[in-house]
Amino acid sequence: MSYISVTGNRRLSGKVKIQGAKNSILPILSASLLCNSPCIIHNCPHITDVDACIKILRHLGCKVFWQEDTLLVDPTGIHCHEIPDDFMREMRSSIVFLGAVLSRCGKIAFSFPGGCELGPRPIDLHLSALAQMGVSVEDAHGRLFCQVDEKGLLGTEIVLPIPSVGATENIMIAAVTAKGKTVIRNAAREPEISDLACFLNACGARVSGYGEGTVIIEGVDRLHGCEHSVIPDRIVVSTYMAAVAMCGTDAVLEPIIPQHIYPTLPFFRQSGCRVSLRGNQLRIKAPQSLHPMKNVMTGYFPGFPTDAQPLLMAMATVANGTSIFVENIFENRYHHVHELSRLGAKIKIEGRMAVVEGAKTLSGTTVKASDLRGGAALVLAGLTAEGQTKIYHTDYIKRGYEDIVRDLSYLGADISMK
Ligand code: UD1
Repeated sequence: MSYISVTGNRRLSGKVKIQGAKNSILPILSASLLCNSPCIIHNCPHITDVDACIKILRHLGCKVFWQEDTLLVDPTGIHCHEIPDDFMREMRSSIVFLGAVLSRCGKIAFSFPGGCELGPRPIDLHLSALAQMGVSVEDAHGRLFCQVDEKGLLGTEIVLPIPSVGATENIMIAAVTAKGKTVIRNAAREPEISDLACFLNACGARVSGYGEGTVIIEGVDRLHGCEHSVIPDRIVVSTYMAAVAMCGTDAVLEPIIPQHIYPTLPFFRQSGCRVSLRGNQLRIKAPQSLHPMKNVMTGYFPGFPTDAQPLLMAMATVANGTSIFVENIFENRYHHVHELSRLGAKIKIEGRMAVVEGAKTLSGTTVKASDLRGGAALVLAGLTAEGQTKIYHTDYIKRGYEDIVRDLSYLGADISMK
């Protein structure tokens, strides 16, 4: 079984190119199904979640080609509305196909995504919103059949009880060619929602209000293909910022979009890092020793991103004092704590709170990733641990990082894939 080997205590510095955002490209690929001509999508990350998405698109009848970091998607030959169980299981985010396939084919059959490594991942908000737009849902032993009634998808006002990212995306995608106007209140405001809206508008959709709490979609008859470039991945930015913070000197990350980084900046600065933003470049300079971080509370954008929680926790394990984390988005997002502890981290969990006592040193050992960002956190911890750390279950990490080993090697880390 392959593993990442890291030998700690190397100083990192240099420049890293930031890949396109995983959480943007997945809904954008799904939305491309609605077009009546091909889409050209630039800055696509080569990650296994994108491979899984491409498999689904091809299964549905699309032609998809890579050209370096660009994907060409020709959705004109769609002939299928069923997503096989295996494909659903391969990528939990395949729920993002729900709105697109319903809109394009009028029906969809897929298996219930169920739980995942972050705990239960319900889809009740997706289904109830689509029901309000005229979709019937039938659950046959975990296999869901959804069908648009004969009047077609109808625009309506949907109030989300929580600003779910995936539900907002599914509603937006279903609404762009629905009849009339759809208003999503309490919509998610994550940058990836705005990226999806920009893609849809470039295809001829009429979406406004994105990035704010209320998204308004005026239905149009059809979408055409377009050319679009995916935004940089803000969680990958946090990952490499944390790496530099833990074993600096300093590094430059680009391209970045400053507004996307603001929710994490105060914590890097609290830890003593000097961060400067110029245009699409971020420079981070690490302190001699990291200060603890108080109250890293995850929240919906522009709150602190839950996906960055494990990464900053890795930083906190070697800070000079006690840091506090509160996980407000997912019930079960502390799987990395057990493995960090095996490296010598001192972390106590009390409900949604984690209290991290910074340790002087971590020591390398064998650990297992159990989710994407938790796996990246173990790599970060390995960078500062004494001796060798072996991180197994690297498949989780490949779901979201093009090549974490290559990028950290560029910065000077002693890291390799075995
Ligand atoms: C997306 C991101 C993920 C990120 C998360 C929160 C993608 C591919 N994934 O996931 O990386 O961690 O946003 O920023 O973009 N919920 C319900 N019912 C639903 C849907 C969600 O109760 O029908 C709950 C979830 O259990 C969770 C919370 O709402 O507690 C937020 O989930 P949501 O925003 O939907 O996350 P995802 O779209 O799954």
